[in-house]
Amino acid sequence: LKPLDILKTPVWAAEVATGAKSFHDNPVIGSRWLNEHGLHEKRVILAERMADFRRRRMSHLVSREHAEAYARDGFVICRNVLPEDTFARLKAEVEAREFPAQEMHQGHTVTRFIPIARRMLTDLPELGGLVTGPLFQGLLRYVGSWNADPITFIHTVFAEPDRGPRDPQTVLHSDTFHPTVKCWFFLTDVPEDGGPFTFVPGSHRLTPQRLEWERQQAIEASSGERTLHSKGSFRIPEADLAGLGYRDIVKVAVPANTLVVADTHGFHARGISSRPTVRLGIYGSIRRSPFTPFAGLDLFSLPGLRWRQAEIHDAINNWKTRTGRPTGQPSVGKVKPLDPPRRWQQQ
Ligand SMILES: [Fe+2]
Repeated sequence: LKPLDILKTPVWAAEVATGAKSFHDNPVIGSRWLNEHGLHEKRVILAERMADFRRRRMSHLVSREHAEAYARDGFVICRNVLPEDTFARLKAEVEAREFPAQEMHQGHTVTRFIPIARRMLTDLPELGGLVTGPLFQGLLRYVGSWNADPITFIHTVFAEPDRGPRDPQTVLHSDTFHPTVKCWFFLTDVPEDGGPFTFVPGSHRLTPQRLEWERQQAIEASSGERTLHSKGSFRIPEADLAGLGYRDIVKVAVPANTLVVADTHGFHARGISSRPTVRLGIYGSIRRSPFTPFAGLDLFSLPGLRWRQAEIHDAINNWKTRTGRPTGQPSVGKVKPLDPPRRWQQQ
């Protein structure tokens, strides 16, 4: 323990009551002794209960059919979301223009994020209609258990198996220890071999076996040896799934104009692309503090900040890129969503 660490200890202890998940960065969350005595399990159980409590008050945001699909599977699939002509206009709005983008490289995959700035919601009326509409907003908020403004991006995934090692996103994992939501409205078809979203149905809920598995992973993560584990996104080998009481893996291969909304606390991965593929969609996500009972107290839903999260994220990222600070998804300037990744263009 260094002198500064003594000052930080109350902060680390306070983070136990937040969504902080890194066993590596927080010695209280990453204490082997505390986790052997049930700290991680208690956080997982309480987070699930609190999310259930918040979600019960939000059932008016979704149809009964969608609520049942979420409860059963942990994800919801809506096909033919928009009328054909509306969908065609939305696709044209998104594909024809250049936007400031960020690109994340992981193995042989590049994920391009184009922040959906507030002005884009009016400049691109079909995009704005979808992103602010009741289906997209209602499902994100309900599954995420937060009646809060989501962060949204135009999202392109380029996968070329010959370009590098396996993408770590293709390994089954849980994003964090509490319910959290991601969604994709696909503008291109997603075939089975085109990196489809892959999910273990039911794995968004705890079973006694899952809880024991969580406990073991937390103890292991506290040793700091397995990097992705120690950051709090637990990886799971497929062979271990059978023992946890869940159903078989589902590959969500779907046509364009489909919305997929998932609780990524459940085990999921990006399916492997066996050939060069490009997947274009509108991505949304909500993640807030897991332990509060109130679903609607959200800073980013205040009038001045509403619909601005992606812009704020972009501004921080631009600053990091400009000043040479580490960022997982550096800004690459203006591109059209389907232009090849910047780094691949330069190779
Ligand atoms: Fe994930």
